[in-house]
Amino acid sequence: MTREKENAAVISQEEIAHGIYSMWIKTEAANTAKPGQFISMYTNDGSKLLPRPISICEIDKENGALRVVYRVTGENTGTELFSQMKEGDTIPVIGPLGNGFPVEKAEGKRAFLIGGGIGVPPILELAKQMGCDKKQIIVGYRNEETFLETEFRQNGEVYISTEDGSAGTKGNVMDAIREKGLEADIIYACGPTPMLRAIKTYAEENGIECYISLEERMACGIGACLACVCKTKEKDHHSNVNNKRICKDGPVFLSTEVEI
Ligand code: FES
Repeated sequence: MTREKENAAVISQEEIAHGIYSMWIKTEAANTAKPGQFISMYTNDGSKLLPRPISICEIDKENGALRVVYRVTGENTGTELFSQMKEGDTIPVIGPLGNGFPVEKAEGKRAFLIGGGIGVPPILELAKQMGCDKKQIIVGYRNEETFLETEFRQNGEVYISTEDGSAGTKGNVMDAIREKGLEADIIYACGPTPMLRAIKTYAEENGIECYISLEERMACGIGACLACVCKTKEKDHHSNVNNKRICKDGPVFLSTEVEI
């Protein structure tokens, strides 16, 4: 599907943790967006031509609005320019992009919804839409700045891990799962690659269906740069090679389909 660039209006923006910003924008992308999808956001600065793929944190279809929560990656970056935007500014976006999480597969099951670092935000809309038997949200942070925790608590059982031990279990999300003796029949996860690798191994050792979002590895977000290819088990039937573009074919994959 071809999508047009659209000028979205900034509704509000705030810094919700050190260097982590939450922005609501009014966009047509809200009409069809699903949890686990992302939007490509462009800066108004011509020297930065590539968009930044930013995952969708919340969808408000009624008001045609999307919430994105993102980390500013450094000075003079696209994300820093986004963070300076105010209510009433416009921002060029394309979306929704990517496949999203298969929410319906969790019906009647005990689920883990796992987010780590800047993979935490997309887990919120997933938690809001998921109807499953037991919704266990496990989120990993660096420190006590546990952004979005309040919203998570309204949507399921919440378990927190922090790298420095300042809140919840000291360590990572897998440490929290072990410490609390949690169990699941299906897993959804988004976060840094080492975390996803550990979850993939855990799921496969225990025969658990597991969907991982590899969005951390995207660059252009629109299928143009090939910076995002990942190795797959099966050959792609168009190109006949063992890889897929994360931005176009993903970012969500069944864990057994991909090598990370
Ligand atoms: Fe550029 Fe996927 S991020 S092709």
